[in-house]
Amino acid sequence: MHMSEQNNPQPEASLAAGDWTPDMIRAEVNALKHKPGALLPILHAIQDRVGYIPEGAVPIVAELMQQTRAEVHGVISFYHYFRTRPVGSHVLQVCRAEACQARGGRELERHIQTRLGVAYQGTTSDNEFTLEPVYCLGNCACGPSISVNNEVHGRMTPQKFDRLTDTLTTTVLELK
Ligand code: FES
Repeated sequence: MHMSEQNNPQPEASLAAGDWTPDMIRAEVNALKHKPGALLPILHAIQDRVGYIPEGAVPIVAELMQQTRAEVHGVISFYHYFRTRPVGSHVLQVCRAEACQARGGRELERHIQTRLGVAYQGTTSDNEFTLEPVYCLGNCACGPSISVNNEVHGRMTPQKFDRLTDTLTTTVLELK
């Protein structure tokens, strides 16, 4: 479940990753709404807490910020950083920018997609990994670079990637 009903709120301690409550969203908005340009930091805070921006959070944010839902949707869709779907236990980001591509990034991304059996923006069927493209991780001299749960790993090779994912999960990954 990725949303708790307003009439039947769950205690926060019982929520699984990706679950959220309206109260949780209100708390994030109320903590930041008085700051200038608050909408972006609020959306960041929601994504940091829930893992993505739930569709049901949009009307809550819009009402508290006295903006239209379309305005909030507009900001979410403008910034590729924001996710609107739940993610897996680990978020893998592969750098697709030029410097990394020149250092073997294309071969690496093909390997990663085959190994995980998902394309970009996909989540593995066991819900372990979500794969996302990024355009520079600030580690260009040591490419190709990926990040795993926001930790950057440079000089990545298919072999190193396999070892890395093996350490992150005990689940056997499906090979395509
Ligand atoms: S180009 Fe890949 S980290 Fe900068």
